[in-house]
This record gives sequence, C-alpha cells and structure tokens, in this order.
Amino acid sequence: MVGSERALRVGFIGAGEQGRANLIPALLQVDSVEIVAVCDRERQRAASLGSLARGAEIFSSPEAMVAASALDAVVMACPPQAHLEVARHVIPKGIHVFVEKPPCVTTSELKSLISLAKEHEVVTGVGVNFRFATPVRRLREVVENELFGQLVHLQIQHPANKPKSPMWESDSTIRSFLLAQAIHAIDLAISFGGELSLATSRHQHADGSVLIHLNLEFTNGLSATLLTGNMFPSFAFEMRAIGSRSNVATLDNLWNLTVIDSGKQGRFSGDGKRWREVWQPSPLDSGYARSGYVGELQAFAQAIRAGTRFEADFEALLPTYHAIDVASESTLEETKRSVANE
Ligand SMILES: NC(=O)c1ccc[n+]([C@@H]2O[C@H](COP(=O)([O-])OP(=O)(O)OC[C@H]3O[C@@H](n4cnc5c(N)ncnc54)[C@H](O)[C@@H]3O)[C@@H](O)[C@H]2O)c1
Repeated sequence: MVGSERALRVGFIGAGEQGRANLIPALLQVDSVEIVAVCDRERQRAASLGSLARGAEIFSSPEAMVAASALDAVVMACPPQAHLEVARHVIPKGIHVFVEKPPCVTTSELKSLISLAKEHEVVTGVGVNFRFATPVRRLREVVENELFGQLVHLQIQHPANKPKSPMWESDSTIRSFLLAQAIHAIDLAISFGGELSLATSRHQHADGSVLIHLNLEFTNGLSATLLTGNMFPSFAFEMRAIGSRSNVATLDNLWNLTVIDSGKQGRFSGDGKRWREVWQPSPLDSGYARSGYVGELQAFAQAIRAGTRFEADFEALLPTYHAIDVASESTLEETKRSVANE
C-alpha cells in the first residue's frame, strides 16, 4: 500500500491519440499523482508529450522505463497486445496497472492476468470511462432511489461505423468491433445489472456491415437488450432504464438525462401528469471529468492507497468478456451454452 504522504509515481505508456487527447490530461487532474516517465516505442511521440507531463523522463521501451523509474503504477493507452505483454512484465514486480479498454483480446488471456494480479496483490484497472461519466453517475442515483422502484430493464443502443475490418491480430471483425466499441455498453449494462446469468446474441449482415443484438439476463431478474454494430452512420449512445413503479429514465449521448415520472405534477401549470425532469452537465464541467476519465483514474489511485479493489479491475471485466464471447459467436445454441457453463 502507498501512504497518502507522497504522490504516486506513475509511468505512462502509449503516447498515441487516446493518451494525448484524454488519458494524460485526465491523469494530470488526479490528486497526488506524479507522471514521472512517459514511454512510446516511437520515442518522438513520447518526447512530444514532455510539454504536458513536465519533468517526466522519456523512454522508448517499457522494460527500460520500469527498470529505471521506481514506479508505483503504470497507466497505458496502447493496443491490447501491448497491454497484455506489459501487464505480464510489471505485475510480478508489484507494480499496479491501469490499461485502456480492451485489456487483451481473448478471455483466456484475461483470466491469466486476473490470476497473476491476485498472486502478486496488485490493483488493476481497465479504462471503461462510461461507468464514471457524470451523467451515468446521475442515472445510477436515479435508478437506485426507492421512488424509482426496482430496476427491471435496460435498453441500450450503441450505434457505430467502425471498425469494418479485423484489428489487433484478431481474425474477426465482429470480435474487434466488440472489443473496440461495444465493450463500453456491455460493461455498463453489467455494472447496473450485477451477476450475469445468461447472454444470447444474433447478428444481421448486409453490405459488409453487421448489426449485433445482445440480450443479457441477471440473477436479480433484471434484463438488458443491446443493439449495436458498425452499420450506422456515426457513433452515438442511448440508454433507457425502466423501473417497476412506471418510471423511465433515458440518457441521450452521455449528456441529457430525462426522468419520466408517472406521478410528476408541473410546478407552474399544475394540470397534472406527463411532466418530466431533465438534467444536463454544467457547461463548466471539464470534458475530462464529465466523460469519466478523471473519475476512473482518481478511483484507481484511491484503490492503490487504500489497498482495495478498483471497481473496474480485470476481474470485473470477466463477465463482459463472456458476453463478448457470446456475441462473437454465430449460432444461438452455442452462445447460450457458453455462458450457462461458466
Ligand atoms: N476509452 C475510450 O473511449 C477510448 C477511446 C479511444 C481509444 N481507446 C483505447 O486506447 C488505446 C490506444 O488507442 P489510440 O487510438 O490512442 O491508438 P494509437 O495507435 O493512436 O496509439 C497507441 C500508441 O501506443 C504505442 N505503442 C504500441 N505498442 C507499444 C509498446 N509495446 N510499447 C510502447 N508503446 C507502444 C504506439 O506507438 C502508439 O503511439 C486502445 O486500446 C483503444 O481501444 C479508448
């Protein structure tokens, strides 16, 4: 455990688009964290982040960075093959590790990382920032309020337009899509639903694109449906939560939260019913906080200090990988079995 008397020494790996645009700026907003080293196998990229992470030493090899820097934690935004390889290198050294989604390509790789992290008692984390986005936190407060009733169903639409070919040495475009995009929606559904009991899926193919229908069922009776795929014109994200007391909450593009309450009266006209409440983030809410990047890294750092699990650690992502396995398969019977047998 690292006490609160000093800053956590973090080494950052992967100075590409996501590192530069989101993760490094967010990390700079986390209390008591110092970025002491930045690494990219393309050294120039790492060096160009020097103006953001002032004073950080620059490396082109993760192994050299780890050997030289007395790190408490590594934060990565690389392809999953690099997440896997570096996590296998640093975990046995007792270094905590946070990787952007996806942590790896296959479920067996994820299981091996979970065992390694348990053996060496390190805190792990996956960048599923939707969980930590301010409007999602608000939605969670709404559905957990007893006035909402029991959360019965979640409907998620996650349209996207890429990838349309395999990535990350996978031979499947569908699996690449699920790992690159739908992982957010699946993880979010599971974070609301709890223990997953069954996943079923079917695909529709046309003109080289795919629509993926995924149904999830949870041991507490909650169900979720997810419509996603690369057949859409652009990325969007919509979520609808249905409560047992005839209340519905919708979240539109991680921005507008609307609660339709069966009993709500208008404050001004007073003529009863069909009113709704709308919440939006403040325009002054920093993008990195609103989109969840600061929150996830702050919670990861707190877990290291407290010696506790981080809520989106490697183990927490395992049911998401089971659902991805199901959604990657093509026949319903096979997919039903693969979750039922876990
Ligand atoms: N949370 C989100 O919404 C979100 C959004 C975009 C990307 N991402 C994730 O972030 C990760 C990076 O995506 P990107 O778009 O920035 O990719 P990118 O290709 O722009 O950047 C990856 C960087 O990692 C470096 N790299 C690769 N292997 C390395 C190794 N072994 N050692 C050191 N450096 C290495 C590359 O040189 C490159 O600079 C991916 O896993 C992606 O899924 C997450």
